[in-house]
Amino acid sequence: MLKQLEELKLNARQELDAINNLKELESWRVRYLGKKSELTRVLRSLAILPLAERKAVGTSANEVKASLEDSLARKGQALREARVVAQTEEEHIDITLPGRPLPVGRLHPITQTLYEICDIFVAMGFQVVEGPEVEWDYYNFEALNIPKEHPARDTMSTLWVDFETDSGERPMLLRTHTTSMQLRVMERMPPPLRVVIPGKVYRYEASDATHTPMFHQIDGLAIDEGITMADLKGTLYEFARRFFGEDRKVRFRCDYFPFVEPGAEMAIECSVCGGKGCRLCGNTGWIEILGAGMTHPEVLQRAGLDPEVYSGFAFGMGIDRMPMLRYGIDDTRLFYSSDLRFLRQF
Ligand code: DAH
Repeated sequence: MLKQLEELKLNARQELDAINNLKELESWRVRYLGKKSELTRVLRSLAILPLAERKAVGTSANEVKASLEDSLARKGQALREARVVAQTEEEHIDITLPGRPLPVGRLHPITQTLYEICDIFVAMGFQVVEGPEVEWDYYNFEALNIPKEHPARDTMSTLWVDFETDSGERPMLLRTHTTSMQLRVMERMPPPLRVVIPGKVYRYEASDATHTPMFHQIDGLAIDEGITMADLKGTLYEFARRFFGEDRKVRFRCDYFPFVEPGAEMAIECSVCGGKGCRLCGNTGWIEILGAGMTHPEVLQRAGLDPEVYSGFAFGMGIDRMPMLRYGIDDTRLFYSSDLRFLRQF
């Protein structure tokens, strides 16, 4: 029996040397080490052998088994390595292939406009400031001379936050204009100060071609000793020139806002009809783009500034209208519809 084992080992070795793929290796394993293999049979029959023989055959059979298992493992490893090398050679990387293009995103047209407007004011020495969209009634209205019963509240349908104080008041809202930041800025920054405040604002309004419940504004504020209406006009003229072009005519008229005195509005010549009058400008030839004025003395006082020493100007405009005027877009909802066919044009 010992001789039989020796022969088996020799045969197995020879066959193993000739094997060159993993499939053949597996059938070799079944043949020589599997449950029905000769070796297994020998090991199982040990029990019925006479004691003297059992020991010798047992030792030898186990040795053969260990040696074949070792050879199997080594051959397996060698075959797997060879396969990896072959694969890499076959699938070698072609470094001259162009890479897969990554889709490049872009800024939303409103964001682009907002950046452009900010850049113009930054170039004139203004600083960009942002503030909360959920705001107190105080900063949005009260501090701007718009107390509880003031009719100016009716012009801004407000989205109130469902939060009541112990005394049953609802003092929290979604800001209706970026002007809500003006007092916050004055409270924190000592003059001279020059800031622009861009951001989202909210009104309780149904969507149509010219309204959305959320839109964008930018406010400006400059406070210093000796600021006059000439500074206001000069700054806004320069803005209009840089944003709308050198030749665009600009018009100032009186207007009323509770937080400025005097108040004004600025209009630009209509881009569609060149001032002759058309549907876009309602036959007036002018398009109003912003409200402005000299900061009201009471607003300055609320921030702890002496109106005898300090004065300032302020302005505020809608941002969404600007690209509409520039590109002739007639429906503001397009900006918020996430339609890439529209957005990719900018
Ligand atoms: N907040 C005003 C609005 O939403 C616009 C405005 C007018 C802002 C005059 C100002 C200003 O800062 O001085 O209609």
